[in-house]
Amino acid sequence: MADIDGTNEPKQFFTDVPPTSEGFYLKGSNSLDWGMKNRLSRIFNPVSGKTVMLAVDHGYFLGPTAGLERIDVNIVPLIPYADTLMITRGALRTMVPADTQKAIVLRVTGGASILTDLSNEDLAVDIEDAVRLNVCAMAVQVYVGSEHEHQTLLSMTRMVDMGLRYGIPTLAVTAVGKEMVRDAKYFRLATRICAELGAQYVKTYYISEGFETVTASCPVPIVIAGGKKLPEIDALTMAYRAIQEGAAGVDMGRNIFQSVAPIAMLKAVRAVVHENETPEKAFELYTTLKSEKK
Ligand code: R5P
Repeated sequence: MADIDGTNEPKQFFTDVPPTSEGFYLKGSNSLDWGMKNRLSRIFNPVSGKTVMLAVDHGYFLGPTAGLERIDVNIVPLIPYADTLMITRGALRTMVPADTQKAIVLRVTGGASILTDLSNEDLAVDIEDAVRLNVCAMAVQVYVGSEHEHQTLLSMTRMVDMGLRYGIPTLAVTAVGKEMVRDAKYFRLATRICAELGAQYVKTYYISEGFETVTASCPVPIVIAGGKKLPEIDALTMAYRAIQEGAAGVDMGRNIFQSVAPIAMLKAVRAVVHENETPEKAFELYTTLKSEKK
């Protein structure tokens, strides 16, 4: 107990200083609770308002894909250069040191593999495990327009409800079935549904026509997936365009961990996302760092 002897009389009340009541910097997040805002601020840099998420959760349906054969060897050295690691609980517990200071976004859906119908996903993690793992967000895949649209959207709303209870944001990941058209109309529909059903942020794909209408009509931040491996300059150009057209960051996997110089690529992506660097300049940075093996 504090010693009350010698306690000074309080007098610094700053009666001329109005109390602060600033809005939260992230789109659509102002009405969230403190814990949720705090977790989001560990994902989205409070200065740039953006994030570079490193996605390494592919094994939950793909197995040990190229670049993710050994997360302990291939991915752990990259963690310091990302803002966030998006990962499954199995990989996190078995291969990532628990003293990592980076925000974790936990993949919480699963239940299908590349051998069956990928859209047949459901919740595969209990909220209590997300709490135990001290994660900053939970990622739920939704398949708007697919056979399992209803099931995956309701999985997301269940996670949103539990997340609100514990202060953990839900990231809705919009997956596009093979038969679906990847255009602005589809992504406006899918991202808006996710936001209206309560997701705190949404992941989608970049499209070259009308992406700005997707970000404009979605009331919460959008991050883009990287997709299949592209030449580095093309991946940097895609990230640049997405940011300039309203994305709040990237959730990039293969274009980083399948690059011949993953750390150099991560640093180049960071320059585009956090500093609005042009793709050409960022590619120069990538080339220089690659030659220096940094
Ligand atoms: C799919 O496995 C996950 O949602 C990935 O996290 C997502 O596709 C991002 O990874 P990539 O940039 O490799 O597409």
